[in-house]
Amino acid sequence: MKVIKVKNYEEMSEEALKVMLSVVSENPNAVLGLATGSTPLGLYAKMAQDHRENGTSYANCRAVNLDEYVGLDASSDQSYVYFMRENLFKNIDIKLENTHIENGTAADKEAECARYNALLNELRQDIQLLGIGSNGHIAFNEPGTAFDSVTHIVDLAESTIKDNSRLFKSIDEVPRQAFTMGLSNIMNAKKVLILANGEGKANAVRELVKGEAREEVPATVLQSHPDCILICDEAAGKFI
Ligand code: PGA
Repeated sequence: MKVIKVKNYEEMSEEALKVMLSVVSENPNAVLGLATGSTPLGLYAKMAQDHRENGTSYANCRAVNLDEYVGLDASSDQSYVYFMRENLFKNIDIKLENTHIENGTAADKEAECARYNALLNELRQDIQLLGIGSNGHIAFNEPGTAFDSVTHIVDLAESTIKDNSRLFKSIDEVPRQAFTMGLSNIMNAKKVLILANGEGKANAVRELVKGEAREEVPATVLQSHPDCILICDEAAGKFI
């Protein structure tokens, strides 16, 4: 794993932009694996700015997102489909029909997982962007998830529900389940870019870099990825 330590969130986002732009400039048809959460917001703002100012085009890119809450769709401003449109897609020239995410309101959840797995097999990510949970999760693969898992439905860990409740009116509104790409879908990406900022991520980052690879800390699966880059700020990287 290549580790890039920077001062703060701004520099983390700047470094991440460089990696993203190198992938898109090398392959204008790239498949971009994207993520939600607070961590990538700075990167997404910089991608939008670069698109406006320098004309980087995503018109031929495809996007696949990691995860979606069960029960939410684009009409909910807490859904990840909504998040992606508001925070990135409406600000660049990617075609919405080329953006993919699990359907949170699918009637048949198992069929939805199978559909998404088939799609991921067709659209292998040229880059997969990730944040990391304070408990070491990546996407919604909570501690104990099998390293060979594919898209599945998860019961969210209490710590994740608590972490994410800041974005909801109350903790009772946080969905208890989500669809998520599995760890093997993530490992299948040609390149992985994982970002971490803030002290709350320091223990998870230590495990990611220095811990033993084990299913109790899902992010440690990345230790065996052939092209994984971690960009973290000083606070998140204080133990490495
Ligand atoms: P965050 O979430 O970016 O909102 O901190 C990261 C994650 O849980 O994967």
